[in-house]
Amino acid sequence: MSKKTDVFKAKISEYLSLDNVFLFWKGRVALYAILKAIGIKEGDEVILPAFTCVVAVNPIIYLGAKPIYIDIEPDTFNIDPQKIENKITKRTKAIIAQNTFGLPANIDLILEIAKRNNIFVIEDCAHGFGGTYKGKKNGTVADAAFYSTQWNKPFSTGLGGIAVTTNSDMAEKLRKLEKKAIQPSFKETFLLKGLLNIREKLLSSNTYWVALKTYRFLSEKNLIIGSSQGYELEKPVMPPDFLKGFSDVQAEEGIKYFEKVNNEYKIDKLISHRKKIASLYKKIIIDLGFEPPFEPDYTDHTYLRFPLLVKDRNKFFRLAQDNKIELGDWFLSPIHPITSNFEFWYYRYGENPISEYASKHIVNLPTHSKINEDFIDKVYEFLKKNKDEIIGCYLTENLIREET
Ligand SMILES: Cc1ncc(COP(=O)(O)O)c(C=O)c1O
Repeated sequence: MSKKTDVFKAKISEYLSLDNVFLFWKGRVALYAILKAIGIKEGDEVILPAFTCVVAVNPIIYLGAKPIYIDIEPDTFNIDPQKIENKITKRTKAIIAQNTFGLPANIDLILEIAKRNNIFVIEDCAHGFGGTYKGKKNGTVADAAFYSTQWNKPFSTGLGGIAVTTNSDMAEKLRKLEKKAIQPSFKETFLLKGLLNIREKLLSSNTYWVALKTYRFLSEKNLIIGSSQGYELEKPVMPPDFLKGFSDVQAEEGIKYFEKVNNEYKIDKLISHRKKIASLYKKIIIDLGFEPPFEPDYTDHTYLRFPLLVKDRNKFFRLAQDNKIELGDWFLSPIHPITSNFEFWYYRYGENPISEYASKHIVNLPTHSKINEDFIDKVYEFLKKNKDEIIGCYLTENLIREET
């Protein structure tokens, strides 16, 4: 590790009040390292929500284990703890609890189930850095957790993954894996630096749709270092250079978020901004006669994305594009963005009605640092005009029954 990566690590460690922090090229690599440190191997099973990104499923399969999908709660979009226990078998080794859109899962209930069954809990905090569960920072109460610092995550180093653990045995193993990781090449870090510069200078809500399409097209064709390369979406086969480390370019970018301005970390300012934008969206939603997103009392929702369910997703996306409204598509499938060959990921379509309903109807409004009150006004006009297209901000069992 270089000096810059050590400085970044120390900042994360201080912020989370955790000693064991390890850095990797991407969040998915951090998850892979955690699974390997736990000892996940051929024939094991790992439980996770059926409403996630496929790159968070791949590492399980890379290790020869099988993902076991659990349906989500209709109101939080997180794994339903009530549905976990009867999927546990002798082969189950871990449960992954994801912080969907910045809202943590009910981790105490999950920890209880895990303890009873002697299995590990990993928090997927890709969306949840900086948020809290019962006053404790996301990722600090489970056996291990990982964060993503990819482009559209709570704070971004372009690409990046952080693994943390409260277990000293696991820490030792993670330290070895971090050391063993291949260093990113000069070309990779050079391209990443270039993309970071372009994003800083050019990306705004107005250029969003063009930029997103270009970036996704180039990464699917493996022409730039995208967050998901084409091969990861074709079949879960581990590339030889998957276990890759964190670079100075990423560390330099990450350190900026832990500088203090008026005694407040920049990352905390950014989280406050997201919450403020979410509170403005909530006002709009209420004004239009809907209920805002459900916020369980155990949590501090940091609103990486603001969820909205619509009747016809494709139509709504077309309308948004025509009106230059930036809109996210998490998650357009239970294993986003996969829409065919589900069996490669052991997913059986039809088994998780809530996740499947959500993934057909969900869109998300952005809360990032470039979202300002002008954009909110545009969103207000847009949603008012297309009110008949909206279902609401969370699901109910009734809604799902009606459709099925
Ligand atoms: C829920 C979830 N988990 C894990 C990841 C993986 O993070 P990364 O892109 O840093 O590998 C992502 C995003 O890509 C995600 O949305």
